Amino acid sequence: LKTPVVILNFKTYLESSGQKALDLANALESAGEESGITMVAVPQAIDIYRIKEETSIPVLAQHIDAVSPGGHTGSNLFESFVANGVDGTLLNHSECRMTLADIAEVVQKTKGADLISCVCTNNIETSMAAATLAPDFVAVEPPELIGTGIPVSKADPEVVEGSVSKVKAINKDVQVLCGAGISTGEDMAAAIDLGAEGVLLASGIIKAENPKDALLDLVSKI
Ligand code: G3P
Repeated sequence: LKTPVVILNFKTYLESSGQKALDLANALESAGEESGITMVAVPQAIDIYRIKEETSIPVLAQHIDAVSPGGHTGSNLFESFVANGVDGTLLNHSECRMTLADIAEVVQKTKGADLISCVCTNNIETSMAAATLAPDFVAVEPPELIGTGIPVSKADPEVVEGSVSKVKAINKDVQVLCGAGISTGEDMAAAIDLGAEGVLLASGIIKAENPKDALLDLVSKI
């Protein structure tokens, strides 16, 4: 993915589910075209196929389980996401944590299928652990700031800078994103100034009156 990148996690908000997931994906597509910035959708699993059919933006899954084909009722099977056109996946989001062993297994599967992996972390130490697995992205998000509207790039710049320097020291090819409370152009510009190569965000855009305008504002200062 060309950086800087904006990755929008749709989570399970009503404003980003079903038909509204498609509307939001369309907003990402047109904001991406207008700004020239890569914009990525992370919808719920059930909305992936439709968004892939009807838009041309990259689409990541919110979570994939470390299970193999067979009897695993209720699980998210990697092969099924691939068959339905997904471009990659988030892993280990603070709202859906995984063991290190399971993260490693799914990262390996993404590499084998040439898909994008983005491992979420909650502090500098877990960013370092994630970097050793060589995913495409590590996205650091202090859980206490998620959904608050208080931007990590201003409230906790140390966790962003620290993750960037420690991750790059382990593997310079791993790109570092930050998230939690990001919603404005100023927040994203501050993240880039701290060395992040993009942002992972949710509520500030999903809950905005006009998500496309909010996305254009987000990238207006970089
Ligand atoms: O994955 C993005 C996320 O956890 C940040 O959420 O609502 O603070 O942008 P939010």
